Amino acid sequence: MIPVDALTRLKSARSIAVLTGAGVSAESGVATFRDPDGIWARFSPAELASMDGFMANPQRVLDWYAHRRAVVDAVEPNAGHTALVALERWITQREGTFTLITQNVDRLHQRAGSRNVLEVHGNLVEDRCSVCEEIHKGEQQLDAAGLPVCTMCGGRLRPNVVWFGEDLPRDVWDAAERAAHDADVFMSIGTSSVVWPAAGLAHTARSRGAVIIEVNPTSTDLTPDVTWHIAAPSGTALPLIVAALEAA
Ligand code: OAD
Repeated sequence: MIPVDALTRLKSARSIAVLTGAGVSAESGVATFRDPDGIWARFSPAELASMDGFMANPQRVLDWYAHRRAVVDAVEPNAGHTALVALERWITQREGTFTLITQNVDRLHQRAGSRNVLEVHGNLVEDRCSVCEEIHKGEQQLDAAGLPVCTMCGGRLRPNVVWFGEDLPRDVWDAAERAAHDADVFMSIGTSSVVWPAAGLAHTARSRGAVIIEVNPTSTDLTPDVTWHIAAPSGTALPLIVAALEAA
């Protein structure tokens, strides 16, 4: 299932950058966005993942994110997450560098033990002030309408997740671009590769000479441009890759 040439390139890699998407968490029981039973087939992104939607009905948006938090709190990282922890350990022991860029907001990579994680779409755990941008976690102060507000400036709190039409967090994005730029192996795992700018990272890496390994049971917009497409679930393919590297 794993192309021998892909393993050869991984074995000689100095710098691995990995981009993950919702597919990596699918085997933990977290829904993806664009599969037939995905989140955007059941819910409206305009209502639930945009500033306009939040302004129109903040309580509805906050309730939905509270529900998503409860879903991810109730699940565990899967074999794909664990294999990425082992891949990071494997290459850092050989003095190589490893960057895990994730579009996922579920924190499952960190719960599995991944260290160098860049959350380009934010996370579900934190809130952010919609006025002063202060990050909040845990205890909340409520306004007269019962909505959480910033203890610094009184602005309304929102989930610290990137919504449609919003910029990605600058420092995190710059670090992600650097990692793609410097990688000799770039892995795109469990993402449909339709959301930009994240989808552009593989192209950045490729233009700098990296090989691209895609792990996804189905083909994506990126597939025509990859070096190897491993058509399998990440929870199956990634442990096989790591086992082969560790055995070498
Ligand atoms: P999508 O739902 O667009 O794509 C999920 C991909 O995972 C699909 O290509 C599936 O084929 C693949 N997949 C499903 N099960 C898998 C498995 N077990 N192993 C590997 N792959 C599997 O999710 P993303 O690409 O992550 O943005 O979506 C990108 C962004 O769009 C998200 O970060 C989110 C959403 O709107 C924000 O929240 C800002």
